[in-house]
This record gives sequence, C-alpha cells and structure tokens, in this order.
Amino acid sequence: KFDGLAETPPMGWNSWNTFATDINEQLVKDIADKFVELGLKDAGYEYIVLDDGWMTRERDENGDLVPDPEKFPNGMKAVADYVHSKGLKFGLYGDAGTKTCAGYPGNRGYEYQDAKKYAEWGVDFLKYDWCSTGKQNAEASYTTMRDALYKAGRPVVLSICEWGDNEPWKWAQDIGHLWRVTGDIINCWDCEVGHGTWSSWGIWPIINMRSNIRKAAGPGQWNDYDMMEVGNGFTDAENRSHFAMWSMLTSPLVMGNDLRTASKETVKTLANKEVIAVNQDKLGIPALRFTNEGDFEIWVKPLADDEWAMVIVNMADAPRTIDFDWNKHQIGDDLHNRQLDIKNKKYKIRDLYNHNDIGDTSKNLKATIDSHDVLMVRLRK
Ligand code: GLA
Repeated sequence: KFDGLAETPPMGWNSWNTFATDINEQLVKDIADKFVELGLKDAGYEYIVLDDGWMTRERDENGDLVPDPEKFPNGMKAVADYVHSKGLKFGLYGDAGTKTCAGYPGNRGYEYQDAKKYAEWGVDFLKYDWCSTGKQNAEASYTTMRDALYKAGRPVVLSICEWGDNEPWKWAQDIGHLWRVTGDIINCWDCEVGHGTWSSWGIWPIINMRSNIRKAAGPGQWNDYDMMEVGNGFTDAENRSHFAMWSMLTSPLVMGNDLRTASKETVKTLANKEVIAVNQDKLGIPALRFTNEGDFEIWVKPLADDEWAMVIVNMADAPRTIDFDWNKHQIGDDLHNRQLDIKNKKYKIRDLYNHNDIGDTSKNLKATIDSHDVLMVRLRK
C-alpha cells in the first residue's frame, strides 16, 4: 500500500448516511464549499467521498465504469478537479465482488483497469466494499486492489469495508489504511436493527462489540467504527458523546450529515479542534475503557508527551454528578505500557467542550453531566 498516508486517522465526509444513492455533482460542490465556509477544512477534514450509486448499471463497451451521466454530466474528473481546487481530496466507492451493495458493477476482474481510471480521474481515497463476493477470500481480494492502485501510481488511501466479518484487524495492516469493524451504523444510541441476515448498529453496540481490538490500530492503520451519524437526529448531547468516542477510539472521523443544513451546534461539535486533536494525536493509541459501572462510561487515552484524554459519558436518562478522586484510581494502559502517575505529578485539567481549564488532579473532579452528555478532558503537565 502507499506508505505515509493516513499517519493520523483520515478525516472527511461520505455521502451514504444521508443521501444513499441520491448523489450528484452539485452536492459534491456544495459539500466542498461548506468544508471551507464552516471551518471544517481548517479543522482538518480533507476527504470528500462519494459512496455507492455514482455509476451506471453497466460498464461501457470498453469495460470501463461510467459515472451516471444524469448525476455527473461533466464526468468524474470535473468533480475531482473541483474538490482539488478547494485544497481537498476526493474519494470514490467500489466493491471487491461482482456487484456493489446497491447493485452497480463491482470491480471483480477489472481491478487494474479500474484503478487506472481512478488515477486518471484524480481519486485519492477508495472505499472498497464486500457485497456479491461469493466464496472470494477477503485478504486476497483486498490485496489485488491494493496492488492495482499501487501500479496505477496515484497515492490512494484504501478503506476496507468487509464489516469485520473476516477480522481484518488481524491481516489488513499491510493492505489498507483503515478497515470497518462492524456492519453499518445507524443513528441511534443503543439499538440494533435487523434486516434479515444483516444488522445495523447504534453507537454503543458498535463500541461494545469492538472495544478489544486496540492493538491493531496505529499510524497508517486504523479501526474504522463507520461514518459518523453526528447531526443525523441525535440530541446535541448525544452528538458530543458520539464525536468524543469516535475521537477517543482513533476512528476515522468521517462526517455523514448534510452540511448544507447542519445546525450551528452540530458544526461546533464537528469542528471542535481540541477534541479533534485527541483523535489526531501522533501516538495513535486508541482509548480503553476505564469503567462502565453505574451510570458512567469512562474511557482514557494516552497522548503524546505523557498527556492523557478522558471521557465521561452519562448513560442515564437524567443528569448525574460525578465526584472522581484521582488518588483512588490507577489509570493506565498496560498494552502500551503507560501509566498516569498521579502520585508524583500534578496534571492540569482542560475541558475540551467548554474550552476552559478546570483545576488539576490534586482535587477531585466534580461535575454534573446531562443525560447522554459527555465531559471530555485533557490532562496536561
Ligand atoms: C454497505 C456498506 C455501507 C455503504 C453501502 C452502499 O452496506 O457497509 O457503508 O457503503 O454498502 O451500498
């Protein structure tokens, strides 16, 4: 794969969660404009990715994929050029099997031909799905596309999307830069919605299912907890918690909402640079659960320079008060051999959503947190 890409979790926007296959050139342009206008580009968001539904139902007489002429009347290069003209990067969707999940042509058997086309168009990111793959071997199929992209010569971030079925965290590090860890996300706090053999998952089921694959992630290789549902029907409190958790888990931060109509509060959450800095920390160590006893989910994440991030989510239906005595807890990450040394050091505490300093670790951390809201802090030396 192309090295040096995605040294920190990729950040961007993907069309699927809000638009499904109802996408077009104007939408991409509007989103690119919004990246700049809303300060999202400035906050670090970079990739604009068109998901399933961008092509015609059949390949052309040369066997090439064809952008749907009604949705993309000027072709795909024009779309990519526009995105690039804003200093952003452009992504497309493909599928390792014979058909995409929405029934458009898959890349199976055409990998090298398609990779060349992507390079011609200016594609910087490929989300590569796993529908209609029959008995294909996942590792081999994703390796084929990796090699095809590499041969085409244009650096591309490869996003593996086989839903965690084949445990990609065990084999995908040399193949892709990120890999989905579950089936599709849905905009609910803790539900599971089944569709026959397939399920979609709310925020907490996704987190709970995949809280023990921390070892797999690091610079250039990320566990992908799926495109975010921030701004897609959650309360502002839930948006903050969702965004905090994705940041803590070092998940790619891929927005999935309609940026043209996003509320001020949603944009404020998505563009929060202090939270994003936790996600983008150069160590790239995913958070671990400290406790989920009682009403609180508490997660901690080692950061560079012996700093730490900590998230406290109130899972209850009503406000709850926390009174956390630092001296009574040993916070540490055995996997990465890092311990929070409260006995010998005093850390300053920074509230990352309110953007203020709230004391230090010599005193208890006391706060009242609304239902499903979050207190996210950074411990600084
Ligand atoms: C699968 C993927 C989704 C989306 C759709 C498109 O379900 O997991 O993220 O790409 O296909 O059809």
